[in-house]
Amino acid sequence: MSITSADPSGRDHRPALLAVLDAVDRAPGAAALRARSYALLGVAAGTRLLDVGCGGGLAVAEAGALGAFAAGVDRDEEMIAAARGRHPGHAFAVADATALPYEDGAWDAYRADKVLHELPDPGAALAEAHRVLAPGGRAVITGQDWDAFVLDAEDGLLTRTIVHARADQVPGPRVVRRFRGLLLDHGFGEVTVEVTTAVLTDARWLPLATGLAEAAVRAGAVSSGQAAAWTADQAERAAANRFFLAVPVFTASGTRSR
Ligand SMILES: C[S@@+](CC[C@H](N)C(=O)[O-])C[C@H]1O[C@@H](n2cnc3c(N)ncnc32)[C@H](O)[C@@H]1O
Repeated sequence: MSITSADPSGRDHRPALLAVLDAVDRAPGAAALRARSYALLGVAAGTRLLDVGCGGGLAVAEAGALGAFAAGVDRDEEMIAAARGRHPGHAFAVADATALPYEDGAWDAYRADKVLHELPDPGAALAEAHRVLAPGGRAVITGQDWDAFVLDAEDGLLTRTIVHARADQVPGPRVVRRFRGLLLDHGFGEVTVEVTTAVLTDARWLPLATGLAEAAVRAGAVSSGQAAAWTADQAERAAANRFFLAVPVFTASGTRSR
């Protein structure tokens, strides 16, 4: 699960985004997914790992605890300030994924988690990943398909409209479908793709659903009356322990092969 540069209601609001990311980090299966990314990257003592779009810096701290020399970059100054505050002793810098301030071949491992959907040109980020990785270096990119949020709801057609309207508000809602091709196109071999579905049934996830409806109203895709009815249905489900949101999360890996 993840949110783009916006809170669940779709407004751009950094503290709210961090709070959502913190909640997502504690979601069922999230820790296992992060651990899987470190395994795919071959993180071990001394691995030089760069986490791009690092947000609050949790992955940098976790990789550091595994013995890596881990650093994080994010284009957002507030995110980097938060990461530095939360994880002192680790290296964090403000930088753009498409213009990394590192020498060619400086890193053994490159990680971008819930980031590429925010980029107008994800290929430019993959080109940078290839450049900053040493030959044989590993890349892992992960994220969810914004068109593929699966919600139980009374009105299935309205649900589809709401999900797609929210998806259309991120630059690359379906970029995960291109993960394999992006890696192959930018000089990576041994490319793999794995999918893990996050299943969220706890009532505390209700704001993710209601945020979708609010965003759909702002996009003009549904009326406020339609959104209110849909949100009421979701709230009833949550109150009755019948909330259901499933999100497939795609994790692709590759080795810098040339
Ligand atoms: C949804 S958050 C994910 C943060 C973190 N990777 C995580 O898993 O919690 C996306 C992050 O990517 C950052 N980001 C977006 N575009 C970026 C870019 N072009 N270069 C670097 N960071 C970027 C945002 O500022 C934000 O912190």
